[in-house]
Amino acid sequence: MLDRLQDQPADKILMLMQSFKEDPRDGKLDLGVGVYKDADGNTPVMRAVKEAERRILEAQTTKAYVGLAGDPAYTAAMRELVLAGSVASDRVAAVATPGGTGAFRQGVDLVRLANPGVTFHVSAPTWPNHLSILKTTGTPFVEYRYFDAATGEVDVDGMMADLEKVSEGDVVLLHGCCHNPTGANLTGEQWSGVAELLAQKKALPFVDIAYQGFGDGLDADAAGTRILAGTQPEMLIGASCSKNFGIYRERTGILFGIGDASDTKTTQGNMNHLNRQNYSFPPDHGARVVSTILDDAGLRADWQAELEEMRTGMLDLRRQLAEELRQRTNSDTFDFIARHRGMFSRLGIDADKVEAMRRDYGVYMVGDSRINVAGLNARTVPQLAEAIAKTCG
Ligand code: LMR
Repeated sequence: MLDRLQDQPADKILMLMQSFKEDPRDGKLDLGVGVYKDADGNTPVMRAVKEAERRILEAQTTKAYVGLAGDPAYTAAMRELVLAGSVASDRVAAVATPGGTGAFRQGVDLVRLANPGVTFHVSAPTWPNHLSILKTTGTPFVEYRYFDAATGEVDVDGMMADLEKVSEGDVVLLHGCCHNPTGANLTGEQWSGVAELLAQKKALPFVDIAYQGFGDGLDADAAGTRILAGTQPEMLIGASCSKNFGIYRERTGILFGIGDASDTKTTQGNMNHLNRQNYSFPPDHGARVVSTILDDAGLRADWQAELEEMRTGMLDLRRQLAEELRQRTNSDTFDFIARHRGMFSRLGIDADKVEAMRRDYGVYMVGDSRINVAGLNARTVPQLAEAIAKTCG
């Protein structure tokens, strides 16, 4: 039986991680996978996370199962963090999931339970794993225009024109903030326009929010998601704590299903059922760390302060890189890097130049020219700018 299996296509982000590891050169630069690194190149355990773990270790008396939806303290704290008061809580069903990827997968399975023939609309481009999960589950999808490579900004007219073609009941996948891979995001006004159009089309928005707090701040980054939650009869949200709590390997995410209050119980039951079918109980440790932090004023303040340091550090790196490139290329071609938000920016460089930068300068970025800004530091920004200028000049 197993001899009938075919090789699966490699995940390009994970493949890049491996090639970087195998490269023996000193001074190589890893701008591939979306992991935050500090000025020394480390991915630290955040202070509040360490303290929450210490408290949990001391106080925890059992490792017995929690409910299928996860710990209610976690789902309530996350509902508040992501949605604030934008929607009545009796309209929100929620399950803990293994990371934001688990939330996306469970959301896809949920809509397919309701409508097996459902079509997804995804931004061009989107996170490659979105596409791969849609393919794995046999879910048809079409792309809507999103990124204007010439300006490095969102192609809003193209996006709205393509969303005009959405049919009733279709799912429209949106990145809540810090768009991955481009770094280009909608303004508040543009989110309102999208909300109006989707309500009119009776489409179901599905927001993937994996970087809340990495762009313009915790509330600003959730603003688009909250506009939708306040205006749409139904929506799905997949959120991740990997980045903003720095607990990547703990696999901590959540899926929200928002609908009419009279449907919440059944939606919740279906989400619990999907957890049971796919992996039974969701992981608890990361979720408990998150609720311990969010429910304690002191820990929460310290977490927010450290997250804010990370966010403003990334903005400084963006400004520095744009400035270095301005000087080296004598042009404003790369100014969009300073306007982008989150970990990523798509540079708009051809694949052969991306390959040349890896070969000649040991700079690793995803083949579509996505860089992880959080993989840089003040010392390596000039190194990257030099490599880009030499390769593309
Ligand atoms: C990324 O896009 O690099 C991150 O979301 C990590 C991943 O799993 O791909």
